[in-house]
Amino acid sequence: MSARQNVFVTGGADSVGRVIAERFSRAGARVHICDVRADALERTLRDNPGMRGTVANVGDAASVERVFAEAIEWMGDVSVLVNNVGIAGPRGPMEEVSCEEWDETINVNLSGMFYCMRQVIPGMKRRGSGVIINFSTGSTRTRLPLRAPYVASKVAVEGLTLNAARELGPFNIRCNAILPGMINNERMKRIVANNAASTGRTADEVERDYLNYISLRAKIEPEELADMVQFLASDKAAKVTGELIAVSGNVEWEI
Ligand SMILES: NC(=O)c1ccc[n+]([C@@H]2O[C@H](COP(=O)([O-])OP(=O)(O)OC[C@H]3O[C@@H](n4cnc5c(N)ncnc54)[C@H](O)[C@@H]3O)[C@@H](O)[C@H]2O)c1
Repeated sequence: MSARQNVFVTGGADSVGRVIAERFSRAGARVHICDVRADALERTLRDNPGMRGTVANVGDAASVERVFAEAIEWMGDVSVLVNNVGIAGPRGPMEEVSCEEWDETINVNLSGMFYCMRQVIPGMKRRGSGVIINFSTGSTRTRLPLRAPYVASKVAVEGLTLNAARELGPFNIRCNAILPGMINNERMKRIVANNAASTGRTADEVERDYLNYISLRAKIEPEELADMVQFLASDKAAKVTGELIAVSGNVEWEI
């Protein structure tokens, strides 16, 4: 068994990020999380006394630098970075998306991951190993009309991941992306509700239409994403890098 893991999870106060952070913490890892929502962070840290965390927006480079300085001072060099944060961005025709909405989506979803990666790479090089897992989306395969900033940001995340796998492979740092499908969580409920409101359908109809184009006709549980993260971070995945791995039931198409 490998040495104790020092794990950093972005957006770790809720939903998928929280499930991932708790999974590592229960397995004996030191876990530091960050989240933009102070109330959620406080709740999660209260429920998990062994974990540490800091309020921060990953889209702000200076905050990210501060958070990692704090985390590294406590636990030493990070061995596993889970770049989980990704915002949905605006829904609408491209010509109606404001430049501010575009910038914010690219900034949080893409630059945020880069800001975090550049903080952990020096330590991983020192350790002679490391694992970086970036969250993309199954929608990079289907494309998704009316969600241009989101899909563009996530395609770029995949490019960043693949390039990092080449650049960092010689240092035994592995970098992969996970592409979730329709996650069974609050955010997906909001996305379904917005879609229903803008297309005049009911939420049940929208959900049924989504599921009709997922081969397994199933939503993804956050625990199933934590399973894949845990595998990628383990020695069992020692030779897995530069992969874009969907955990989606095979999303064939989206409308
Ligand atoms: N929900 C889905 O169905 C779905 C589908 C495909 C891909 N994904 C991707 O999976 C990942 C996890 O999705 P989720 O549904 O759990 O997300 P979510 O919207 O529930 O957010 C997770 C956490 O991130 C935090 N957060 C948001 N913006 C932040 C910021 N700028 N800085 C720091 N923390 C921030 C939130 O407060 C929240 O606690 C994301 O990258 C998302 O794009 C989600």
